[in-house]
Order: sequence, then C-alpha cells, then structure tokens
Amino acid sequence: MAKVLSGAGLRGQVAGKTALSTVGKSGSGLTYRGYDVKDLAEKCQFEEVAYLILKGDLPTQAQLDAYKTKLKGLRGLPNALKEVLERIPKDAHPMDVLRTGCSMLGNLEQELSFEQQQDITDRMLACFPSIICYWYRFSHDGLRIDVETDDDSIGAHFLHMLHGEKPSELFEQVMHISLILYAEHEFNASTFTARVCASTLSDMHSCITGAIGSLRGPLHGGANEAAMEMIEGFTSPEHAEQEMMGKLARKEKIMGFGHAIYSESDPRNEIIKAWSEKLSKAVGDTVLYPVSVRCEEVMWREKKLFCNADFFHASAYNFMKIPTPLFTPIFVMSRLTGWAAHVMEQRADNRIIRPSAEYVGEDIRDVPAINER
Ligand code: COA
Repeated sequence: MAKVLSGAGLRGQVAGKTALSTVGKSGSGLTYRGYDVKDLAEKCQFEEVAYLILKGDLPTQAQLDAYKTKLKGLRGLPNALKEVLERIPKDAHPMDVLRTGCSMLGNLEQELSFEQQQDITDRMLACFPSIICYWYRFSHDGLRIDVETDDDSIGAHFLHMLHGEKPSELFEQVMHISLILYAEHEFNASTFTARVCASTLSDMHSCITGAIGSLRGPLHGGANEAAMEMIEGFTSPEHAEQEMMGKLARKEKIMGFGHAIYSESDPRNEIIKAWSEKLSKAVGDTVLYPVSVRCEEVMWREKKLFCNADFFHASAYNFMKIPTPLFTPIFVMSRLTGWAAHVMEQRADNRIIRPSAEYVGEDIRDVPAINER
C-alpha cells in the first residue's frame, strides 16, 4: 500500500530533483544555480539572470549583448494576437489577459519540437510585456501602441509602453531588481503546475498558461496586489496599526506575510524593502512607506510573521506609478524564466507525475435502481 502523507499541501515532501535553485537552504536563503540572489541583485541585470536560469551559466559581455539584441527583436506581436487582445474588455483581470495571450501565441507560433524550447521561451520573455501593455493601453486609453521599442531592458520596455515615455534610470534599476527577485523559487505552486503539465510531454505554451493560472491566486502571486489594496486604505502608521490589530483579532489572513518554506524571514524582502525606501524618497512619499514599515512591525510583534517578497513590492510598484492590477503580470514576466527552465529540466529526465490519493469516501456499494434512490 502506498504511504499516506500526514501533512496537507504536500508540505515538506520532496517531489523531484532540481539544479535550478535552493530555498531556505544556503546563502541568504535563496540561490539560483549556486549564486546567492542577494549577490545577483547587486551585480546583475535581469537579462543576465534570465540567461543564467535558462541556459545554465552567467553570460559573458558578448553573450549578454547578443541575448539582449535577440530579445529586442522579438518584442512585436502578430496581428491575430493584437485582434484577440483588442476584444478583451477593460475590466478583465490582466492575469487573465496574459493567460489568454500566452495561449493564443501558442496557436500562432506552436512548439513543434522540444528543440525549439529555448527559442520559444525567449520569444515569450520578449513579448509578454508587449501583450500586457498593448491590451492595457488599448482598453484603457484607446491607443494601439507601438510595442517594438528600442529600450535596453525588459523592465524599461514595460514601463515605456505603460507610461508612453522612457523610465528614469532609478525606475529601470528597480525593475531589474524586482524581476531578479521574482525569477525562480523551486517547487512553488505555479512551478509545480508547469512541471506536472510538462511531465505529460505537453508543449511549452500549455505549461506556461497553466502556471499563469496557478500564480494568479492571492495565496501565491496575487498577494502583492492584495497587499496594495490593504495599505492604500491606511492614512498613517497609527491608522495602519489600529486596522492591523483589528484584522489580527478577527483572525484575517494578511497578504504579503508568511511563507510556506522560510520560517524567520524572506531574503527577497530586505532587498526590495531597501529599494522601496529609495523610491519613496525619490517620489516624495510620506505615507505609504512609513505605513508599510508599521505593518511589518505589528505583524512581527504580534504574530512573529515576516514580510514575504510581495509586501514591499506593493509600495515599490506604486511609487513607479504601476496600476495595481498589473503587479502580478510583472511577476509572470520574470517567473516565466523559472517556469520554462523547470519545464526543460522535467523534459530532460521525465516520468509522468501521477501521485496517489488517500480514499476517504464510501465503501463499495451496489447501484440501486433509479426508483429506489
Ligand atoms: N496572516 C495571518 N496569519 C497568517 C498568515 C498571514 N499572512 N500567514 C500564516 N498565518 C498563520 C496561519 O493562520 C496559521 O495560524 P494557525 O496555526 O493558528 O492556523 C499559521 O500562521 C501557519 O500558517 P499556514 O497558513 O499554515 O502556512 P502555510 O505554509 O500553509 O501558508 C502562505 C503559507 C504563504 C500561503 C501563508 O503564509 C499565507 O497565506 N500568506 C498570505 C499570502 C501571501 O502573502 N502569499 C505569498 C507567498 S510568497
């Protein structure tokens, strides 16, 4: 008989092997292919980290230049995809838009052989920001924007299309940091979704589409949006403290806090918090950052719960004038690298993922005649 696992949610179970990242095991707590995320965030651009995750090693300067040039050339969207995006209503959730955009791209540019997996991934990495901004600007501003900008980075490309002007150096830098922090995180829910899909030998677009759906929920990637919705309702640190105490008394779950693996801190928080503070000063904020810090203090004091990567991302994105519903799609623009690398890893040593269930239903019984039920 198969062993029955005691904990719900597969917590603590090893469900496969990976050479991509470690969570809560070494360095500051998160490593990508042996490099500490803190070190990567200090020294690298996002495109270098994407290259590392997808291709196995950090690029040389020449490789990085060539990779960026390749990605720049893949930003355009097919007309059929633009037509689909134009039909999606303004009040749709941007994560649903991205899910549909990814799926439509899979119809137009099918992965016909696994040998195409790196190119298919690079294409998605280059054009996901285009998909989200094309839809956003069309549905909100009535504009058919040019998505083929000459911006140097994925983060700058995104902010440029969203705001109609090139971002400042500071904003571009914060986008690099944010995308690096979100790029990979071992067997989290969305990555596991992608691997389960990959294990059936499905195509890359199906794996990524499924992962987007999984990331959408507020217990996972959606937490940064939920955190923003909460903190923007607080007018001062004192108000935040009063409201947070009420939420805790009512045993409400507070988004942006806690983690399934980390037990004392999330290494990504310290990094994004420092950048949120820098942004707060740069944009002259006097409320949102102090409110966020007070929330952090209250949660630690009352519950020993710490901020995860999502909490200070909320204020950081808000300072860069990014609309709240676009927060989780930015997570996708980055995590796509981790998902795709996991799909490739699964394909390289595959067995279909098919666990068993502990049956808790009725004992075996006869089907009664319909007039006897
Ligand atoms: N707010 C309030 N209480 C929280 C909490 C939060 N954000 N996170 C955990 N807790 C409490 C739980 O209610 C539980 O208390 P109990 O033992 O009295 O029932 C205890 O802490 C253990 O938490 P649990 O939910 O079992 O942890 P988990 O490993 O199942 O879940 C998360 C991890 C991340 C899903 C959970 O912390 C959470 O829902 N956080 C908010 C959503 C979020 O920020 N997600 C992004 C993750 S990067």
